[in-house]
Amino acid sequence: MKKYEIGLFGLSVMGQNLALNIARNHSIAVYNRTTSKTENFINNKVDNQEIKAAYELEDFVSSLEKPRKVMLMIQAGKPVDLVIDGLLPYLEKDDIIIDGGNSHFEDTNRRLNNLKEKGIRYLGVGISGGEYGALHGPSIMPGGNENAYAEVSDIMEDAAAKTEKGACVSYLGPQSAGHYVKMVHNGIEYGIMEVLAEIYDYLRKVLQLKPAEMGDIFAEWNQDFESYLVEITAKIMKKDDPKTGRKLIDLILDKAKHKGTGKWSVQNALDLGTAIPTINAGVNARLMSAIKEERVENSAQLKNSNQAVVDKKEMLPLLKSALYFSSVIAYAEGFKLLKTASEEYDYNLNYREIARIWEDGCIIRSGILEPIQEAFSENMDLNTLIIAQQFRTQLNAAAEEITDLITTAAQSGVPLTAVHAALDYFNSLKSEELPANLIQAQRDFFGAHTYQRRDDEGTFHTEWE
Ligand SMILES: NC(=O)c1ccc[n+]([C@@H]2O[C@H](COP(=O)([O-])OP(=O)(O)OC[C@H]3O[C@@H](n4cnc5c(N)ncnc54)[C@H](OP(=O)(O)O)[C@@H]3O)[C@@H](O)[C@H]2O)c1
Repeated sequence: MKKYEIGLFGLSVMGQNLALNIARNHSIAVYNRTTSKTENFINNKVDNQEIKAAYELEDFVSSLEKPRKVMLMIQAGKPVDLVIDGLLPYLEKDDIIIDGGNSHFEDTNRRLNNLKEKGIRYLGVGISGGEYGALHGPSIMPGGNENAYAEVSDIMEDAAAKTEKGACVSYLGPQSAGHYVKMVHNGIEYGIMEVLAEIYDYLRKVLQLKPAEMGDIFAEWNQDFESYLVEITAKIMKKDDPKTGRKLIDLILDKAKHKGTGKWSVQNALDLGTAIPTINAGVNARLMSAIKEERVENSAQLKNSNQAVVDKKEMLPLLKSALYFSSVIAYAEGFKLLKTASEEYDYNLNYREIARIWEDGCIIRSGILEPIQEAFSENMDLNTLIIAQQFRTQLNAAAEEITDLITTAAQSGVPLTAVHAALDYFNSLKSEELPANLIQAQRDFFGAHTYQRRDDEGTFHTEWE
């Protein structure tokens, strides 16, 4: 019986496209819990590729070359545990399970360590790029058992997006390093998406622009940014609704959903004691958007009576600066979190390499990743990107410009939460002096928590009254 190089379990949108992508260079067997999906895939999506459809789990596993490589592209969470349990009776020592879904990194650590005891090797692999990326070349973020990665690296490299620097995949580190980096990638994505949404809000509510005009502005700015998210925002602004002929963006309900990776980034950042306010603003804004009915009720009673008077020609460059500034800060927060996590969890991350594999295939690909790589090439231990010579002058200049933008937005009742958070993150990080002396005094006042002095060693308590 012919043996296949890799097996892919899970034929939803990502799994189907990734299977077709892998099949361009490698033989692959596929399986899905619901067999009709497998039939539909084989009959309607597969042309001449060498893809074997398996309808029984045992047949699926036994059709694979040893050591077997089984890639899971299924819903994250409990299903991954259930599927691993189902596979185990058919697997042998040294076989490799690859979880390509958006699993929580702590689940990946648990699974990896449990399977290690059984002799099964495990890789937690973050994959970004949506369904298009899965088919044409995603950014792939693998972590876990390093010698297992060596055995699948050719498959991963062939499937990944390519730049002139190579394939957008690199072994990132032990344990859950891959899923952790993917989580932070998604956190940065939340931050930049929110910044773009806020700029769109300013353009429509303060400058009173129409979507088509905004589309032109975003497209023009993107000649400098080369950002996928800016590119799709420009295209979204131009899209007509076939049903009504109006711009589709005007017909989409303003309630944003989320699947969890942004929230996990914020939760873990808090656990590690690292501030990521721009990313946090992205998560919070989705929560605020979700209470639409409440917002509608409130707005009837709390009408905004002011409208800032602004000059479009003057404000557009400031909006472009805000987009640049806040995007760089979202990356800076993400890389700071990666550095903290790498030290805490011994991931030994290579930040330059992470920026390199994000340069194509993934949702946060943009021109900003090139200077980020340069900054880490010059200093891999860089504490924060805001002091890198590639950014510091531009950030300082942009920070001054953004102030006017924030003022006029506030006057018009338009929230610029992420842009504001980015500015305050920058201002906090570059402040020699913060008002935390007062916080310490208050803590000591009501709770005898003690404080340190600038002029003496040790800890002190004062009877304040
Ligand atoms: N969609 C994206 O753009 C995107 C981007 C990056 C990463 N991801 C991640 O990639 C993974 C796959 O995403 P997706 O959107 O293609 O699919 P999905 O909607 O997250 O999951 C559906 C797949 O999971 C399978 N499944 C669910 N519960 C199962 C169980 N108990 N036992 C066996 N199979 C089970 C389903 O099988 P049935 O057909 O039998 O129900 C189906 O194949 C997810 O972890 C997702 O977070 C998605």
